Amino acid sequence: MAGPILRDLLPDTTDISSGEHTLIGGCDLLDLAHEFGTPLFVYDEAHLRSRCREAVEAFDGNVAYATKAFLCTEMARLAYQEGMSLDVATGGELYIARKADVPGERIVMHGNNKSFEELDMALRENVGRIVVDSFNELDRLEELCADLNKSTKVLLRVTPGVEAHTHEFVSTGQEDSKFGFTVRSGVAEEAVERTRSSKYLELLGLHAHIGSQVFDVQPFAKAVGVLAEFAAPYDFPELVVGGGLGVPYVEGESAPSIQEWADAIFDACEKAGVKSSVGSEPGRSIVASAAVTLYTVGTIKEVPDHRTYVAVDGGMSDNPRPALYGSGYETFLPRSNQAERQNSVRLVGKHCESGDVLIKEAWVPEDLSVGDILATPVTGAYGHSMGSNYNQMLRPAVVFVLDGSPRLVIARESYEDLVRRDI
Ligand SMILES: Cc1ncc(COP(=O)(O)O)c(C=O)c1O
Repeated sequence: MAGPILRDLLPDTTDISSGEHTLIGGCDLLDLAHEFGTPLFVYDEAHLRSRCREAVEAFDGNVAYATKAFLCTEMARLAYQEGMSLDVATGGELYIARKADVPGERIVMHGNNKSFEELDMALRENVGRIVVDSFNELDRLEELCADLNKSTKVLLRVTPGVEAHTHEFVSTGQEDSKFGFTVRSGVAEEAVERTRSSKYLELLGLHAHIGSQVFDVQPFAKAVGVLAEFAAPYDFPELVVGGGLGVPYVEGESAPSIQEWADAIFDACEKAGVKSSVGSEPGRSIVASAAVTLYTVGTIKEVPDHRTYVAVDGGMSDNPRPALYGSGYETFLPRSNQAERQNSVRLVGKHCESGDVLIKEAWVPEDLSVGDILATPVTGAYGHSMGSNYNQMLRPAVVFVLDGSPRLVIARESYEDLVRRDI
């Protein structure tokens, strides 16, 4: 048995006061489902802008939005308009950022296996920083810089050997990682010396990202300590502490705000005697709780002595996080947002996999029926961006809502889209 959906899990502008209508950005969710179809990602534009501003303020403008969390040209434009730089991890993300007219110098290029083509693109687009991840990348980058007779500013990604206490698939600060140069083994020192001797690479400092969905500020402070000690002899002008701040997905979870996270990082930097400028790269904490996904209930099946399965018209193709990490979510009925949620059901998608589960134990009102629109909050990060076409499902549309108006920012895919690249 669960009570009504918690207001805290919903986007900032959500209005649940009428009980029978749920409004976000002044738009009724049922109207949006009717107009744009389901599954549908609904983003609260005011919420997005407010989180970007909070991050810019908290980090003194020294902050990049991690586009992997959610990206389309409109999202890139919005983050840039609000004063953020953009962190991209592939040529595709870089392409979209540039399509949105984000200037190259406001883009940071990441990736643990950047190809020649991606590095070439980054150099030609004059990205502000390239975060170098390996010795092979240093070779490639120097070769390309020599060919183009161009120099570039770089940061070195290092692994500080800190456990982020999160799911192992999103834990990246530990030494046994595919990312970066390890500090303790001496490899990071070798990378610093090598980069400093390069004719083309201007080493500005270090970068570390310890993991994602981290609720506690302590591992960040610990990483700062390791980085500060390592960087002490070099007098680097920059230090970037990555992203990773967690957000609550279900009742009972709580996380520091962006400001609290920044305060803890700056505090740790002060204690460790860091003199360089300190930047960050939040993704999830900017976009996750800005969105809800709307689904239509297609079937309700009772399995005696076991459970009830409620199947919706999306699933692991629009939200793979539960299947990947066992992540939890909540759900509610926008038509009845104050209702007690008495019934426990398993919320599943329509893919041909038993693992296609959106919520293992979802609490729903007793009168949930076929045809109802269900909403899952906190689906703004790593849902659409990690989505797929599995079973040739059409990737959902995305709308931004603001002041009573919806704005389609990603169209729903069509069947023609599915064969567009077939030869
Ligand atoms: C290098 C880097 N920076 C920033 C982020 C963003 O992390 P989050 O969305 O948890 O804030 C990631 C996520 O994987 C990352 O790999």
